[in-house]
Amino acid sequence: MDVEFAGRSVAIVGAGIMGAGIAQAAAMSGHRVAVCDQSSEQLEKAAQEIDRSLGILVCKGRIDEPTAAAARNALRFCDSVEEAAAGVDLVIEAVVENLEVKQRVLGAAAVVASPHAVLATNTSQLSISSIASGLGQDADRVIGLHFFNPVVLMRLIEIVRGLMTNDATVEAAQAFAVSLGKETVLCLKDSPGFLTSRISAIVRLECLRMLEEGVGTAEDIDRALRLGLNFPIGPLELGDRNGLDTYLLVLESLSQSLGERFRPTVGLRNLVAAGRLGRKTGAGIYDYAADGSIRDADSHG
Ligand code: NAI
Repeated sequence: MDVEFAGRSVAIVGAGIMGAGIAQAAAMSGHRVAVCDQSSEQLEKAAQEIDRSLGILVCKGRIDEPTAAAARNALRFCDSVEEAAAGVDLVIEAVVENLEVKQRVLGAAAVVASPHAVLATNTSQLSISSIASGLGQDADRVIGLHFFNPVVLMRLIEIVRGLMTNDATVEAAQAFAVSLGKETVLCLKDSPGFLTSRISAIVRLECLRMLEEGVGTAEDIDRALRLGLNFPIGPLELGDRNGLDTYLLVLESLSQSLGERFRPTVGLRNLVAAGRLGRKTGAGIYDYAADGSIRDADSHG
């Protein structure tokens, strides 16, 4: 693959919060994008969400109508990994944060994608080398492309090199990030949580601990970090946006690799067990009204 990465074909596996955002960003940047999910309901939801988001960007004057129309035309929603990834130059998996599932979907995609395709994972913290170890001779084309939520607005992509990742794959991943208009940082060591996730995980965990200890309300903890420490958004509110189920999986994995300091709280486990996963289920640490506004800033931690 050459180092310029424009107008390419990209497959996104997993159309949840991140997959939908990555698909939209890639389609807005002139790539042909095929998206799939194991859930047809989720795929439909992603299509609606992308459509809605493109409409908002046009209304706000951030993109023009022809760009939005071109992005819509560039998107294809598929029933299977095999259909989405056939012949593509780049696969990005954004499925559940689970090593075996990620190995399985990237393995399935590798069989049908272009023989030179980059096989990228959007994992928040799993070892890229471990994911790649399930890919046999394709392991040198596996790389971490870690996006941030909301993908269309966030400027950074963290690129994570696994032990087997070859230089051409790093260069292609960097060129793809540039084609999306993003900035990159390169995580040189395949270390759990990379440069970003271990920090965001620990900050949010400390906020949850304060909430569960009754030190402050969720609203005041978030306000304190926003106004006193200059966080653009409160860590608890951001947790609801990112999904508390994903956050719990991240903490369980980080606590195994980096130790006790990442152990999830009882309150977080309870929220997930109760199905309060954040905005995607209408309730998490906060309760949300139908228009998405916070309805009840209560301490559900
Ligand atoms: P999500 O739960 O919103 O979406 C995951 C999607 O993957 C679901 O729609 C599910 O149906 C689909 N899926 C699961 N197994 C599949 C399979 N075998 N084949 C096809 N589709 C499958 O999760 P989210 O938040 O989008 O996270 C996805 C990945 O991105 C995770 O690895 C997460 O750690 C990572 N990530 C999440 C961020 C966030 O803010 N939520 C930020 C950066 C990375």
